[in-house]
Amino acid sequence: MENENWIDVASAADLKARGAMEVVLEGNIIALFNVQDVPYALDGLCAHQGGPIAKGQISETDRKQPCVTCPWHGWQYELATGIQTVNRQPLQRTFPVRERDGRIEIRLDG
Ligand code: FES
Repeated sequence: MENENWIDVASAADLKARGAMEVVLEGNIIALFNVQDVPYALDGLCAHQGGPIAKGQISETDRKQPCVTCPWHGWQYELATGIQTVNRQPLQRTFPVRERDGRIEIRLDG
């Protein structure tokens, strides 16, 4: 079934208003972002030393990709891919995410 693995995690309006938020889902801390009406979902714990990714600053890379900078030591990840912008490795896990009927849904199995 197309819908069975999508999990409702937040209100889309709430995420848009806040820009970023953290949710806990099946023991995973997930960082959600809304940038220019596009939702993103990444592992909420930084791949470096576990910093709180949802509290990071949003900006744009020189490749014009939205990215988040970890507040602890400044590692920066592309929101769409989890690629660390200095070494270009996909260090931060990302999750499929969509907005549906005013809700943000993600998949843990994607
Ligand atoms: S914990 Fe995120 S940069 Fe160190």
